[in-house]
Amino acid sequence: MTWIISPSGPLSGEVQVPGDKSITHRAYILGAVSVGETVVSRPLRAEDTDNTLEAIRSLGVDVESKGDVVLIRGRGPDGLSEPGDVLDLGNSGTGVRLLAGLLAGCSFLSILTGDSSLRGRPMGRVTDPLKRMGAAIDGRDGGRLLPLVIRGGGLKAVDFVSPVSSAQVKSCVLLAGLQARGTTTFREPVLSRDHTGRMLKSMGVHLATRGGSTIMMGGQSLSACEIAVPGDISSAAFFLVAGAVLNGSDVVIRNVGVNPTRTGIIRLLSAMGADIEIDDRPWDVEPVADIRVRGTGRLRGFKVPLEWVPSIIDELPLAAVAAAAADGITEIRGAGELRVKESDRITGTVRMLQRAGVLVRELDDGFIVEGGGSIKGADFKSGGDHRIAMASAILSLLAGSTSRVSDIKCVATSFGTFPDVLNTLSPGALAPEPSAESDSLPALSRVD
Ligand code: S3P
Repeated sequence: MTWIISPSGPLSGEVQVPGDKSITHRAYILGAVSVGETVVSRPLRAEDTDNTLEAIRSLGVDVESKGDVVLIRGRGPDGLSEPGDVLDLGNSGTGVRLLAGLLAGCSFLSILTGDSSLRGRPMGRVTDPLKRMGAAIDGRDGGRLLPLVIRGGGLKAVDFVSPVSSAQVKSCVLLAGLQARGTTTFREPVLSRDHTGRMLKSMGVHLATRGGSTIMMGGQSLSACEIAVPGDISSAAFFLVAGAVLNGSDVVIRNVGVNPTRTGIIRLLSAMGADIEIDDRPWDVEPVADIRVRGTGRLRGFKVPLEWVPSIIDELPLAAVAAAAADGITEIRGAGELRVKESDRITGTVRMLQRAGVLVRELDDGFIVEGGGSIKGADFKSGGDHRIAMASAILSLLAGSTSRVSDIKCVATSFGTFPDVLNTLSPGALAPEPSAESDSLPALSRVD
């Protein structure tokens, strides 16, 4: 499938974006082992999170969907049962790595796998600490690649120093740590997104965070609670960037999660000179706000501080789009993690910009963009990566002519309604290209 993007001027209007992917995964997984019924409202319904929901169902958890609410009837700390088949998490690194932590505490056998992209992503970062905690884990390449075979149980706590700031690794270790004897400490260079810690606390778990360290005693039980999932800032970011770079835009995105460990894109756009207003809404566990962005058409390049990288990690392809539109140089370093996301997002981002004629230099751990030049319409390819597909669509809005973005099926992993939201703000900007298959169908004739 392919999108055709016709640049149609400034964006305007009010929208909401689907629920936060990270928070939805966690609500399902923590809900599965809590005591009582966890009520998850406005969760993300997309392939990644639906795969996690299916996995916890396979572990014996009773799940019910009612409108925009999902009820998870928790099985308590020891209530999960051996799945009858391999658990396939599709494209989702978060789903598979968090479940590895959960299953490391379960004495039955479980096997985790995913699609070809996920089977190529590093798993040693989670299997190393889990093995140190006492879980029996094997997998391809000595347990560094999926499929992983886990027979867990009998865990002891760990003091783990992670070389990368990673919320997936942290959450995995904490999920195992909950089921371990003793106090688990997870240390990372810069605090990564802290949704797991916040949710655990709201479920009654005592846990401390100091700088990049998270400390928690094992054996604590979780009490089910209500979790209102805010809109995903990683989805809102597409329209924040489009609104900021297209002169005359005026966009309001309601009910967006603004956890400070996720708002690097707002900080960056503000530092580049964008006009952004944050209107806080009442919140309990996760901060929520309405965000308004007005396009001034006057962004300037910026050197992103290394310590900002974890809070903007998923938005860096989009940051490159903003950089292309800004005057001067934007530099992003310390983002080597991008090479092991759903695709190699450093190469993917650099190719995307090059196709549009933007000057860009690839670094091992980032890229340097020289913005302010002309941007031309192009044939973009997602490489099977949802964020590259959507970032390419936003870049296309800045171009002087029509563009195509191909291989966009992957967008269903996180944000299937992206075309509708974009067309609400910029009517007619995005149209699916009629597929060759439907073109070749004979015309329907009426039979009376
Ligand atoms: C996520 C953490 C990040 C992020 C991913 C979602 C999470 O990955 O890139 O999209 O929900 O924990 P890392 O933990 O590998 O940085």
